[in-house]
Amino acid sequence: MKWCAIICLVFASVACNELRLAEPCDEQLCQLPDCRCSSTEIPGGLQPRDTPQFVLVTFDDNINHINIETYRNILYNRQNSDHCSSGFTFYINHEYNNYVFTNELYNQGFEIALHSISHQEPTTYWEEATLEIMEREFADQKGQMAHFANIPYNSIDGMRIPFLQLGGNTSYQMIADHGLLYDHTWLTIANIDPGMWPYTLDYASTQDCVIEPCPTASIPGVWVLPMITWRDLNNSPCPMVDNCPNAPALTDEEGWFQFILTNFERHYLGNRAPFGYYIHAWYLSVNPAVERALNRFLDLINNLNDAFLVNSRDVIEWVKNPVPVTEYKEQPCNTFVPTSCAAQSCGPIQAEHKGYDYWMQSCAPCTRVYPWLDNPLGV
Ligand SMILES: *[C@@H]1O[C@H](CO)[C@@H](O)[C@H](O)[C@H]1NC(C)=O
Ligand SMILES: [Zn+2]
Repeated sequence: MKWCAIICLVFASVACNELRLAEPCDEQLCQLPDCRCSSTEIPGGLQPRDTPQFVLVTFDDNINHINIETYRNILYNRQNSDHCSSGFTFYINHEYNNYVFTNELYNQGFEIALHSISHQEPTTYWEEATLEIMEREFADQKGQMAHFANIPYNSIDGMRIPFLQLGGNTSYQMIADHGLLYDHTWLTIANIDPGMWPYTLDYASTQDCVIEPCPTASIPGVWVLPMITWRDLNNSPCPMVDNCPNAPALTDEEGWFQFILTNFERHYLGNRAPFGYYIHAWYLSVNPAVERALNRFLDLINNLNDAFLVNSRDVIEWVKNPVPVTEYKEQPCNTFVPTSCAAQSCGPIQAEHKGYDYWMQSCAPCTRVYPWLDNPLGV
């Protein structure tokens, strides 16, 4: 270990994969804005009633001509009670992704985040992924996303690993090495009431490790945004709304609305840890009653004085500099640089990893081959 540190110092340009085991968190040494111990305590020592209730509605997987309709119908033109636009985050994987629609979502002020290039099975691929594999899947995807969706490289700073499968230290090390800010994969079933707030990996995490392996190294400055699970009607934990074992009937709009509220109140009437509604959009499009219930819930949040639909990264920004809700509401709204899209419909494009051709909607010129691992720009 010592040798490694010395070698790293001498050959500063050589990446050193040897990580230090994280030590128990020391609150004196670990302070905001850059360090936070894993904890259910409200940042800044605020009282629950003074704490903004952040609501994170996130969607996983590629954007296509079906789910964009859902997004247009229920997400666009929403305003929080602070008169800022509501935020939503998309964890997007590359295969079959429509980058023209991705550009559209970015231009709504929503957050575009990473969900890997290949999204491949089995889950052991992610469980055992080396740092190099994580780089090929996520760091390369950051450049790929910026290129084909024509959005700023620096606007992308979050990720979620497919199947919520953690891979130990490697994905977090990749975040640190490639200018990302946070991961939103690690679920908790033990820290839901009170809920665990986001924290950094400078020191050892106390979060329960449900889908092993969890990181145990010290990886300074990397933020964990825990996925606080819901409880379904039988009190079983569910991280994604669409995989609760005992959910209301899929045609029962009122049942679904109450189901969301019951889970929301655990946060809103508790320590106000960010409340998540994590889903795949197909579940909404095939279940209109579930979609209507979500729409009603979004209306309700937009009408609450102290709850806000925000992009995932906004929560991290608030935790870094926590202010009471009255002050939060006075802050200027997020700004972003709108970007254009010279839409191209590309195809058939030959793929080198598969025996068939692809079509791709892109804001960049059409590619020679279908972009994939090791050739994220399809040159
Ligand atoms: C993470 O890094 C620590 C410190 O080097 C090490 O002890 C641990 O085994 C690593 N975790 C995995 C899953 O490789
Ligand atoms: Zn996925």
